[in-house]
Amino acid sequence: MRLGSPAHRDLFCRSLLETHQSYDPATFAWPELDEETLHFLRSLPFWQEALATEKRAGIMAQAFAQEIDDPLVREAVALQGAEESRHERLLACLTRHYEIPVNLDLAYHPPADLHQAFIDFGFSECLDSFFAFGFFRIAQRSGFFPEVLFTLFDPIIDEEARHIVFFVNWLAYEQERHGRGWPLYRGVNTLWNYGKALRHLVGAFQGADTAGTGFTATGALVFAPDLTLRGFLTTCVQENAYRMRAFAPELLQPRLLSQISQMVLRVLQWLPREQAQISPA
Ligand SMILES: [Fe+2]
Ligand SMILES: [Fe+2]
Repeated sequence: MRLGSPAHRDLFCRSLLETHQSYDPATFAWPELDEETLHFLRSLPFWQEALATEKRAGIMAQAFAQEIDDPLVREAVALQGAEESRHERLLACLTRHYEIPVNLDLAYHPPADLHQAFIDFGFSECLDSFFAFGFFRIAQRSGFFPEVLFTLFDPIIDEEARHIVFFVNWLAYEQERHGRGWPLYRGVNTLWNYGKALRHLVGAFQGADTAGTGFTATGALVFAPDLTLRGFLTTCVQENAYRMRAFAPELLQPRLLSQISQMVLRVLQWLPREQAQISPA
């Protein structure tokens, strides 16, 4: 199958459309939490940012879908938008149920250049998801929360995996169709875009800003304060492979972050253990 061909388009669109799960967050049976766990849940710093990110993504992707001529691509992007809006509803249900203080009434107007907004969002979603896969497992292993919460959230993590696989294929399809599919252009373009997304992430680590962009990486520190960079990246690489297990081998997958992490892990082998510690400050 050639990237940019109709067969490629059909595969990456159908793989998103045909794996859509229908569920309604309003019907979720949220588990009872004791006072201490509730207090901890309410103290987590990232609820507001997570809600805002999902809301912006839902509105932006659904608006962008309206601009797409190809009916199959339009349907797939609109579905991603609907799933992002459902993530927002799910977070709204959770924060309401557990009385987590957030502003649910956020104003957002999508930007004029929706095509560029979808690309920017796609790269930051690849970055956030790579760390979110590891974060999710670290939070689960920490034993802070009942297992049923992770059962409720697991399909959402899989949805993000579907979105980023869709995104990297959609982007390659677009680049091929517009004659920008040659490997060097794509490599430089990818690095440039990840660079933009990474700037936010590095800023998050430096400023210990566990609420802003990059919260999926820095948020892991909340659950495992003695987490090492080595431990964190190892979990992210393993979980990324686990989340990518279900996709057709002909589809592109976001690989860059996993490859960089494996390079960093090789370097860390040569450092004394204490230097490989993640420092929130
Ligand atoms: Fe989402
Ligand atoms: Fe998503």
